[in-house]
Amino acid sequence: MSETCAIYPGSFDPITNGHLDLIQRGSQLFGHLIVAVLTNFDKQPLFTVEERVAMLRQVTEDMRNVTVDTFSGLLVDYAMHKGARVILRGIRAFSDYEYELQMALMNRKLEPQLETVFLMPAESYTYVSSRLVREIFQHRGSVKDLVPPVVEERLQLKVFPKKS
Ligand code: PNS
Repeated sequence: MSETCAIYPGSFDPITNGHLDLIQRGSQLFGHLIVAVLTNFDKQPLFTVEERVAMLRQVTEDMRNVTVDTFSGLLVDYAMHKGARVILRGIRAFSDYEYELQMALMNRKLEPQLETVFLMPAESYTYVSSRLVREIFQHRGSVKDLVPPVVEERLQLKVFPKKS
C-alpha cells in the first residue's frame, strides 16, 4: 500500500490523541495520508476551520507523508479529485459501528472505486471523543492525556480567554 493515497476525513473539533493515534497508524500503512477537515459542518464548531487545520498541521509536522487539507461537498468527490483509493476511519467502540457502516456503504454506492478502511486506535483512546473533550474542558475538567498539549493551550485561549 506504499503507493496508495488515503484520506482521513473528519471534523476534528478539536483533534484528540485518538485521532493522532489513527493518523500515525495510517501514515505507516499508506504512501500518502491526507487529513481532510470538513468545512461545511452542520454543527456549530468550537474552533474555526483555520484553527483546526493549524492544530492538525502542528501535531503532524514530523510525519513526512501526512498533509492537512480542507474539503466541502461530498467526500467521495474530494477523494476522487485527490486521486485517493482509500477513506480511512477509526472505530473506537461498537457504538461507532452502525454510523460508520452506513457511511462506508453509502460512499461505496456513490463511488465503488473507493474503499473504506477502518482502524482501531490504541485501547487507551477508545473512550476519547472531541465532543467529550469540549464538554470536560468547558466544565474545567482536565483533558491532559486526551489531547496533544497544543490543543490544551488552544482550548484554554478559546474557552477561557484572558480579559485585558
Ligand atoms: O468527524 P466526523 O464528524 O465523524 O466526520 C464526518 C465526515 C466529515 C467524515 C462526514 O460527515 C462526511 O464525509 N461529510 C462530507 C459530506 C458527505 O460526503 N456526506 C455523505 C457521507 S455518506
